[in-house]
Amino acid sequence: MSDADAVAEDRNRWNERYAARRPSFAPHPLVTEALAAGPPAGPVLELAGGRSGSALALAGQGRAVTVVDISDLALAQLRDEAARRGLGSRIDRVCADATATLTGEASAARWALVLATRFWDEAAFTAGAAAVAPGGLLAWEALRQHERGAEEEPPQPYRVPHGGLSERLPGGFTVLAERATDTTTRLLARAPA
Ligand SMILES: C[S@@+](CC[C@H](N)C(=O)[O-])C[C@H]1O[C@@H](n2cnc3c(N)ncnc32)[C@H](O)[C@@H]1O
Repeated sequence: MSDADAVAEDRNRWNERYAARRPSFAPHPLVTEALAAGPPAGPVLELAGGRSGSALALAGQGRAVTVVDISDLALAQLRDEAARRGLGSRIDRVCADATATLTGEASAARWALVLATRFWDEAAFTAGAAAVAPGGLLAWEALRQHERGAEEEPPQPYRVPHGGLSERLPGGFTVLAERATDTTTRLLARAPA
């Protein structure tokens, strides 16, 4: 299967889920942590944001937010809610693969905060970290690969063991917090100034 076919298949799968479930538009707790840590002035990039309550909360704080997701339906739901709240002009939506988006201007180190929640793609993580502005923040949550007793589970492509996010940070980043929940692992880190 080509990369384009794989993205199209994922898009259909996610669109079906978004069509079936009502949105809560609740922001992710990492957003509160990131704001408390003090991102510098500047725009926010959210990867795989879906119909993001996080983007709505950040836009409500005056941030310009770009949300990338492969689901056109999720982004349409986000657009409608942003318009309802008068935040439409602060949220850009990009319907595309996260890694493919992180090229050219979007990949330059200019984002005050790069955010991704409940999403894992190693290439997107690497490119996302490189896109953080000097002194900016990377806030990432991935589904967690659990260990069973002494034996690790076989690698699962959409999961990361706890500790695996900070291990993959480029040099110079400072880890501000790294926590495990029952199902996920979360990282908040600051790029070198
Ligand atoms: C588990 S949901 C998480 C959505 C949101 N970040 C949250 O925490 O509620 C995963 C999201 O990733 C999106 N997604 C999956 N593969 C993607 C890719 N390659 N590039 C961009 N978005 C992708 C899906 O459409 C879906 O919105």
